[in-house]
Amino acid sequence: VVYQVPLRENHVLKRNVGQQLRIKIIYDRSVEDLLPEKRHLIKNKLFPQAISYLEKTFQVRKPTGTILLSRQCATNQYLRRKADPHRCCRGACSDHTKCGPVIVPEEHLQQCRVFNESEWHCGPTGLPDQEGVRDADFLLYVSALTTERCGHENIIAYAAYCQLEAEMDRPIAGYANLCPNMISTQAQEFVGMLSTVKHEIIHALGFSAGLFAFYRDDDGKPLTTRYADGLPSFNESLGLYQWSNKVVHKAVRLWDVRGGQILRHAVHLLITPRVVEEARKHFNCPILEGMELENQGGMGTELNHWEKRLLENEAMTGSHTQNRVFSRITLALMEDTGWYKANYSMAEKLDWGRNKGCDFVMKSCKFWIDQKRQKRQLISPYCDTLRSNPLQLTCRQDQRAVAVCNLQKFPKQLPQEYQ
Ligand SMILES: *[C@@H]1O[C@H](CO)[C@@H](O)[C@H](O)[C@H]1NC(C)=O
Ligand SMILES: *[C@@H]1O[C@H](CO)[C@@H](O)[C@H](O)[C@H]1NC(C)=O
Ligand SMILES: *[C@@H]1O[C@H](CO)[C@@H](O)[C@H](O)[C@H]1NC(C)=O
Ligand SMILES: [Zn+2]
Repeated sequence: VVYQVPLRENHVLKRNVGQQLRIKIIYDRSVEDLLPEKRHLIKNKLFPQAISYLEKTFQVRKPTGTILLSRQCATNQYLRRKADPHRCCRGACSDHTKCGPVIVPEEHLQQCRVFNESEWHCGPTGLPDQEGVRDADFLLYVSALTTERCGHENIIAYAAYCQLEAEMDRPIAGYANLCPNMISTQAQEFVGMLSTVKHEIIHALGFSAGLFAFYRDDDGKPLTTRYADGLPSFNESLGLYQWSNKVVHKAVRLWDVRGGQILRHAVHLLITPRVVEEARKHFNCPILEGMELENQGGMGTELNHWEKRLLENEAMTGSHTQNRVFSRITLALMEDTGWYKANYSMAEKLDWGRNKGCDFVMKSCKFWIDQKRQKRQLISPYCDTLRSNPLQLTCRQDQRAVAVCNLQKFPKQLPQEYQ
């Protein structure tokens, strides 16, 4: 990832207030090489529709001038000089600059800058600054490569940012890779694929643990302390820039489990102002400190999503369920990055957890189910009958769909906090 990329001001800014987010998609060769049906699906349906939703939903607070990306260094060793906003390679620039698995076209790149040891000077070399991309706030490189990551189970797509601009640290470029074998052209899969694509782009735009330390308040001030190099501190054990406790806060929940025991369960909560407000409203819990982040699923899933137990079919949870929705809570998070404004009339209604109160959002599901049973009330949205064969169908609580309780016997030792 390249941080602090300086952008060129456009001499004439076409629009500068209330500006819709402008995402420019660049398809990699690998998309062109797909079978026609898959290529058509990606280029004519999935991405245009996903982008259209996101462009309507978000506005950029500080629109950029021309986007011109920084070149990667051959040795990955670089330095910065105080007076020069550009970073400088020790040795040489790499032949290709990549954004994730995609090679960035030359037209999008700045001139290479190399440090000359004998002159103690940082100088330009090679092709001059290219044209770059005007009238876009974010470049999205889309590929369909069978990468190593595609080999991991059930990965349909993945995405991330690759360069952040210098003024506000907003991501200006990112990639989305779709695993070719997982692309389904069946009509009944379309809605799910579309929400996956939107989900992935939202990670690249702002909802990523690696960006938490770069979030800013409404005045544009960093929420996490910066050091002399202008960056937050890097946490080697996390492999991420370390966020401050103004962004993510660690809390301990008293956690009822099987056998009458009460454990201490640690949670990470996103505590930026709009997220707190929306989460409190959603659950109807005025003392809720923030929205809980996912604690399971390994690197890439943990901390990068909302907690599944609490937000189930919200589209920014870490695993797929039917009927995914982009709720006000996710829109609030995007505003709390400091980079965007959201149009809340584009938010979709989330029923899971709505008005369920503090016990639902702050206690274990065992506690909540026990309490409901004691009061002879329904335990929905949870259920506690084992999934049987043949399936035992019931009506969902809202009477609008047939449902099945997906509770299964866990064949191994279950960690105590999940019992
Ligand atoms: C460094 O600068 C000197 C003097 O201008 C030049 O002769 C030399 O080729 C430069 N080295 C590199 C690696 O560019
Ligand atoms: C780095 O991250 C680890 C794991 O979350 C945490 O325990 C540790 O306190 C962090 N270090 C700093 C300096 O914040
Ligand atoms: C917000 O979205 C709605 C629905 O798409 C639209 O009618 C409205 O004009 C938008 N508001 C703004 C301020 O863009
Ligand atoms: Zn995700």
